[in-house]
Parts: sequence; structure tokens; C-alpha cells
Amino acid sequence: MNNFIFQNATKVYFGKGCVQEYLTCLTGSYSTVMLAYGGGSIKKNGIYGEVVGILEKAGKTVVEFPGIMANPTYQKVLEGAALAKEVHADMILGIGGGSVMDCCKAISLAARYDGDIWEDFWARPGIIQTEPLPLGVIVTVAGTGSECNGGAVITNTEKKIKTGRDYPKLNPKFALMDPTYTYSVPQKQMVSGGFDILSHIMETYFSEPNEDNVSDDLMEALMKSVIRNLRIAIKNPTDYTARSNLMWDSTMAENRIIKMGKKCDFECHNMEHQLGAYTDCNHGCGLAVLHPVYYRHIYREGLPKFVRFAENVWGIARDGKSDEELAAAGSDALADFIQEIGLPTTLKELGVSNRSELQEIAGSCGISAGSYKKMTKEEILEIFQECFE
Ligand code: NZQ
Ligand code: ZN
Repeated sequence: MNNFIFQNATKVYFGKGCVQEYLTCLTGSYSTVMLAYGGGSIKKNGIYGEVVGILEKAGKTVVEFPGIMANPTYQKVLEGAALAKEVHADMILGIGGGSVMDCCKAISLAARYDGDIWEDFWARPGIIQTEPLPLGVIVTVAGTGSECNGGAVITNTEKKIKTGRDYPKLNPKFALMDPTYTYSVPQKQMVSGGFDILSHIMETYFSEPNEDNVSDDLMEALMKSVIRNLRIAIKNPTDYTARSNLMWDSTMAENRIIKMGKKCDFECHNMEHQLGAYTDCNHGCGLAVLHPVYYRHIYREGLPKFVRFAENVWGIARDGKSDEELAAAGSDALADFIQEIGLPTTLKELGVSNRSELQEIAGSCGISAGSYKKMTKEEILEIFQECFE
């Protein structure tokens, strides 16, 4: 096994009723709370009323920062940081999914930094050593696992770059995770988030080492859990067991545990992020379009792992198949699952209408050092072209 250091600073409170039980205590030492959220789903499903009631009862000064959009922009980060400074917020409480959590992490850092935060944090990682404003999150949709990592994926619309990285100081101090809060997530978003979980696991699984290691075994169990529970939650969105499992699968995929000792690929994420920077597409849906085509490009270079994937995750019997046939059958099973759960399979379905833009998008994608097959900009463009329609 490769050497590693592991730490995760977020304290998780998981389960039905956790917000009622713990929020007062967790915000006890802060007087001005900046309450940040998205486009208003929390007002419809009652989460907003519940949280504000608890904070008011505890005598907090609550300053609201609503309207965080899916694929949060750098502009929104700057607005949030200006507000946090102006009202002297003691902490930020983010309620939502990856977009809200990422934006809040970015705000928590920008509010404590006077330099050019885009250049010094996202463009040139490693320069900032600032202690961010304390952040707590209440998770309302499973998918990114942002609640337990230091990633803040932000879109700079001017520069057409969507990027993030895991900065441990940005781990939220606490994460409240009540699976019943995810019941109201529309099915399209639930499956998109579910696929994002699967993608995080696959992007880690399909990378070296190939020899026996704990991470690969854990990931096979997690992938089976995501597939099984997503199928159940599609049939019954209020199945508590399925929603709980998906919520924890999501955290487990991105809390660094499975990455220990692994090289990690994340080329599909590199490609999806740039697709998002140019088209503002939905993250999980973009990944669903890219993965099967990307794997058709790389499976020969990672044959032993793709054979394991087919047998251990999809239960495909060898039945006289060669390694290559078995590996291809595993990738086909993934593509079939994407169709089964109703995710898009082409860039056109995703809303990308301009084929000529693909060259520029491909040229802007990062190239992963952890892929079984090192991509070139030309091959990335080929993949985009094959995904188009
Ligand atoms: O904005 P509101 O009205 O709240 O609606 C949201 C939004 O429209 C809705 N929603 C969330 N909880 C709901 C709900 N609707 C009804 N009931 C609820 N309980 O869902 C929509 C999508 O929310 P969003 O936060 O955008 O989704 P997701 O969690 O998929 O986050 C996507 C963002 O996270 C980034 C993505 O790139 C994208 O920007 N990622 C962050 C990562 C990280 N920090 O570790 C890793 C990922 O790979 C990813 O890049
Ligand atoms: Zn993702």
C-alpha cells in the first residue's frame, strides 16, 4: 500500500431529528450567524422555518444570504464575503447541496483574506494559509460529499474556469445530515446526485494501485450500495433506509477515506467541470454522459480493474468471455444503468447545442496524472465529439 496521512476535521451528526437535537448547541458560541442557502427549496419543504426557529429561540442575530445558484460563481462568493465582513459574521451556516456548501466554504475563506483570492487560491493552489471563518452545514441533497471535505468548486464566468481542490482548512466544523431532508429532492436531481456519488467512487477505483488494497474492496461495496439504494429510492422516495444509505454513501465517497493509497483519476470531473464552465450544465448529468465513453477509451489500459468491476460490481459471469469482453460488458452495464435511471446519454440532451464550442472546451480541460491512460487534448475532444449526439 502507498504511504498516506489521513485526517478529517468535520464532526458529523447523522439521522432523523439531528437538527432539532444539536443545532442550538453547535451554534452556542457564535452570536451573528450568516444563514446561506440556494434558490428557495428550503422555504417550500419547511427546513428554513425549522432552522430559523431554532436560531431565533437561541437569541442569535441571523443575517441571510440567499440565492446561491447551482454551479456557484466567483461573483457570488465575493458578494457573500463582503456581506460576512460588513455584518461581522461569527460563523456561516449553509443549508443545501454541493453548490451551497462549496460557495459557503469559499466565502468563509474570502471573508478572511484581503488579497486576490481567485489568483491566490483557485489559480495558484498552495499560497493561502488563512484560517477561514467557522462554517457549519445542513445537508439537503446527497451527491457531492462536500460536507466532509475541503473542496470548494467555483465557476469563474469571466475566465470560463470551473475548478476546486481539497483544502483541509475548509472542512466544515460540523455537518448535520438528516436523510428525511432529502425526501423533497426532485427525482432528476436525486439520480444526478446518485450518479455523482458513483462517479466519485469510480474515479478513485479506476486508478493504481491494482494490487490487493482496502480501498478497492470498500469501493466495490459502496458502488453496490449506491446502485441498490438508488433503485429503491426511485420507486419510493421516502424510503428512509435507502435515503440514509445514499446520504452516507455520498459522504463516504468524498471524505478522503477511499482515496487513501490511491492515485485517483478524476479526468471525467476535469472534463465535466469545463463543460459546466461553458454551458452551466448539471454536474451529475454531465458526468453520466461522459463516463461510458471515457471508459471505452481507457479500459484496455486498466483491464484487470475493469474485469473486477464487471464481476464484483455488476455480477457478470465470465462464461467463456475473454478479459477484454468481460471488461467491455462491465462498461456496458454502467451505460445501461445510466439509461435505466433516466439520466442523459448525449451532450445534446444535456443542452449543449454548439458542437463547434467543443474544441475550446476540450482545450481548457485539465489532464489527470492518475488515469490508466494519459489523455491528450485531442483525445478529450474525440470523447466530447463521441458524446455529442
Ligand atoms: O437551490 P435550491 O432551491 O435549494 O434547489 C436545489 C438545486 O436546484 C435543489 N435541492 C437541494 N436540496 C433540495 C433541493 N430541492 C428540493 N428539496 C431539497 N431537499 O437541488 C438543486 C441542485 O443543488 P446543488 O447544490 O447544485 O447540487 P449538488 O449537491 O449536486 O452540487 C453541485 C455542485 O457541487 C460541485 C459541482 O461541481 C456543482 O458545482 N461539486 C462539489 C464537490 C465537493 N465540494 O466535494 C465535488 C463534486 O464533484 C462537485 O464538483
Ligand atoms: Zn462530482
